[in-house]
Amino acid sequence: MDETLMKAAVSPLLEWYRVCKRDLPWRKARTFYSVLVSELMLQQTRVEAVKERFVQFLQRFPAPEALAGASEDEVLKNWEGLGYYSRARNLHKAAKIIAEQGFPKDFAGVRALPGVGDYTAGAICSIALGLPQPAVDGNVLRILSRLYADGANIDEPATRARWSELLRAAYPPETGDFCEALMELGAIVCVPNGAPLCGACPWAGLCRAHLAGEEERYPVRSGKKARRIVEATVLVLRCGNKYALEKRPAKGLLAGLWQFPFFEGDAPDFGKVLAEKRAKHIFTHVEWRMQGRLVQARAELPQYVWATADEIRRTYAVPSALKAFMDWIG
Ligand code: ADE
Repeated sequence: MDETLMKAAVSPLLEWYRVCKRDLPWRKARTFYSVLVSELMLQQTRVEAVKERFVQFLQRFPAPEALAGASEDEVLKNWEGLGYYSRARNLHKAAKIIAEQGFPKDFAGVRALPGVGDYTAGAICSIALGLPQPAVDGNVLRILSRLYADGANIDEPATRARWSELLRAAYPPETGDFCEALMELGAIVCVPNGAPLCGACPWAGLCRAHLAGEEERYPVRSGKKARRIVEATVLVLRCGNKYALEKRPAKGLLAGLWQFPFFEGDAPDFGKVLAEKRAKHIFTHVEWRMQGRLVQARAELPQYVWATADEIRRTYAVPSALKAFMDWIG
């Protein structure tokens, strides 16, 4: 791999970043904790969706001790709508570890925190600790594959490892800016969907894919697996001014969140059906196709928790996948 190209690419990237970077809330006052929160929130979630939630989360839990002292339900409630809730549970665990042991000081310590994989550990080390640890995600793989016009399959771990080593060798002293500049280029110039904005790219004169007019041939990926389709019935059971809720299992999809009684396939008859509608929700590996029913329950069935609409909105974390049925609860 040609290291000179990467080294030539560093300064133009840093200069571009200083001028063009977006003004994002987590790029202001930075602490280890604020970087940890933002990097976990940004895993698989768009910057636009995170911006406001990051600020609110830090207001509610301003330090690791505050987060460590909260209940899991409170933490999940403050993560509501962001999806991938295991991140919230992991962040909660990480805060407990930090509250007891202090912040980790090196890559191994950061990587050992729950919910922190190689990518996030690299980002936290680069941004919060000033360590030259590469953070290679899909955005970074795309911009490097194009810079080098490299046709290796980016879904192969060996490809990722190779780019990671190349970056490690090129790291400048401004570790945080470099790390975020790579992400930023992939987010706003060398964009994931549609044509890249090469006219605005600091690498336009270096990028081998651009020089060959073949930007969109890269990156090369293997095909994606099809999603599993789950047909389900969701019952919004009403009794007086209360509605039935159940807690999802502690493991798996949307673990620990609250939902209206949810049945794979059809549901039992609990009373008169007042309204029906369909909704779907697409997760990474599963698609829910839901038949929703608003049902007048004959009694407060004891297998469920019963709560008013207000209580549900204020204290129970309900996944966005069920948002369509929240209209029914007044
Ligand atoms: N995605 C992951 N980390 C990010 C960051 N620090 N800034 C912008 N997008 C990101």
